[in-house]
Amino acid sequence: MTQLDILIMAAGKGTRMKSRLPKVLQRLAGRPLLHHVLDQAAHLQARSATVITGHGAIEVEAATAGAASGGSTFDLKFVRQEPQLGTGHAVQQAVPHLRADGTVVVLSGDVPLTRPETLRALVDACAGKRLALLTVELADPTGYGRIVRGADGAVRGIVEHKDASEAQRAITEVYSGIMAVPARLLAPWLARLTNDNAQGEYYLTDIVAMAVQDGQGVAAHRISDALQVAGVNSPLQLAELERAHQLRQAQALMEQGVRLADPARFDLRDDARTGTRAALVCGQDVEIDVGCIFTGRVELGEGVQIGAHCCIANATIAAGAIVHPYTHIDGEKLGARVGEGALIGPYARLRPGAQLGREVHIGNFVEVKNSTLADGAKANHLAYLGDASVGERVNYGAGSITANYDGANKHRTVIGADVHIGSNCVLVAPVTIGAGATVGGGSTITKDVPAGALGVARGKQVSIADWQRPTKQPKP
Ligand code: UD1
Ligand code: CA
Repeated sequence: MTQLDILIMAAGKGTRMKSRLPKVLQRLAGRPLLHHVLDQAAHLQARSATVITGHGAIEVEAATAGAASGGSTFDLKFVRQEPQLGTGHAVQQAVPHLRADGTVVVLSGDVPLTRPETLRALVDACAGKRLALLTVELADPTGYGRIVRGADGAVRGIVEHKDASEAQRAITEVYSGIMAVPARLLAPWLARLTNDNAQGEYYLTDIVAMAVQDGQGVAAHRISDALQVAGVNSPLQLAELERAHQLRQAQALMEQGVRLADPARFDLRDDARTGTRAALVCGQDVEIDVGCIFTGRVELGEGVQIGAHCCIANATIAAGAIVHPYTHIDGEKLGARVGEGALIGPYARLRPGAQLGREVHIGNFVEVKNSTLADGAKANHLAYLGDASVGERVNYGAGSITANYDGANKHRTVIGADVHIGSNCVLVAPVTIGAGATVGGGSTITKDVPAGALGVARGKQVSIADWQRPTKQPKP
């Protein structure tokens, strides 16, 4: 087995994206296109990967060095191609950096969904000895390089669409842009390229005719799944590949037994903020309703139910918990945890550091940030818990908040077990409510409340008998 050196062409402009962001940094499932391609290098256990950059080179290199394929061991290099004179010219820039003993696999930075087994089959067809092309049969081959075969069926060359005759344009087998070729053969062929063609470019595809001329056989590994070689040129194509990729992920989960109400309305993405790879780990009998977005690493325990249109990022939801529709859970870097049998939402918001015990209830329009709620605690309506420790079985009333921020610093609120906080209370931190205490509704609590006591801090109610309401003045 020869060693593999991957070349990724990523110098093109991507004009049709109409974006400031270089095309290969556009995201598919939250991950730059180029990083998807680098993952393929990792799957192939390549010895090196060289990215050919040009347009937006500084940005592409900065976003890719180090960030790609955590844990992979290949040597990652960048080579600049300036100006961009064609795919053959691109590969020429990299060749001086390649070792002669390896097999070169050429990939495109904007073709994200090639399966590892397809690339492995291509490398096998090359066998360290000959040029091997990945080809695909397309109903509409417009724009692609056509695979020209002889009467014996052997590949004779590739003709670019713009250079092709009418007869050649009728060929439906096209070059995918992906090839595997021994480095020792590639270098001399590249040296012979000219730009004598319809586009005045150095075509990498011209090496095919050279291989034939030199009496080296050319292998073609033909696939029928166009998605695997589909490139991204426009926002529409990016969205189409996104849906196809999401459908694949949804199908993989369903094969594990996860019940998705609709695999076409499911999204699982990398978390670009924390650099966390997309991973949805599900126990048995998990049900996920339509329109949910999972970001980063999310674990759902046995029997968890996720209602429609929830956004869940970097969180763990333990067995039997139910998350009702329109709930937003975002653990960011700190993570968020929902305990066994908890009931969350609808319209709940759990932020980083929310740690909920067993059977905690968090209802509509309740926000929890950097707070621990022990088993059985409940905050059912319109409330805020920030930087708080909440004991077991606490009942936290509607409209109550922890005032955790004094304008300069954040402070903690500690609420003991079995406390009852009435409605519309403000707990001004730092403050401690002792176990079993009660806080009367409408109180603004600035001092600790001892265990078992009633804390009330509000104007006393008065009733003025026979109160006369103002009456409307007649208009002058
Ligand atoms: C290329 C192939 C064509 C094939 C098609 C598959 C050639 C001459 N043609 O055509 O046979 O069917 O891909 O998608 O190779 N790039 C550079 N530097 C350059 C030019 C391009 O890095 O100077 C990069 C682009 O960023 C892109 C890739 O190479 O990632 C392909 O270039 P593109 O111009 O899209 O080639 P096609 O005309 O599509
Ligand atoms: Ca292209």
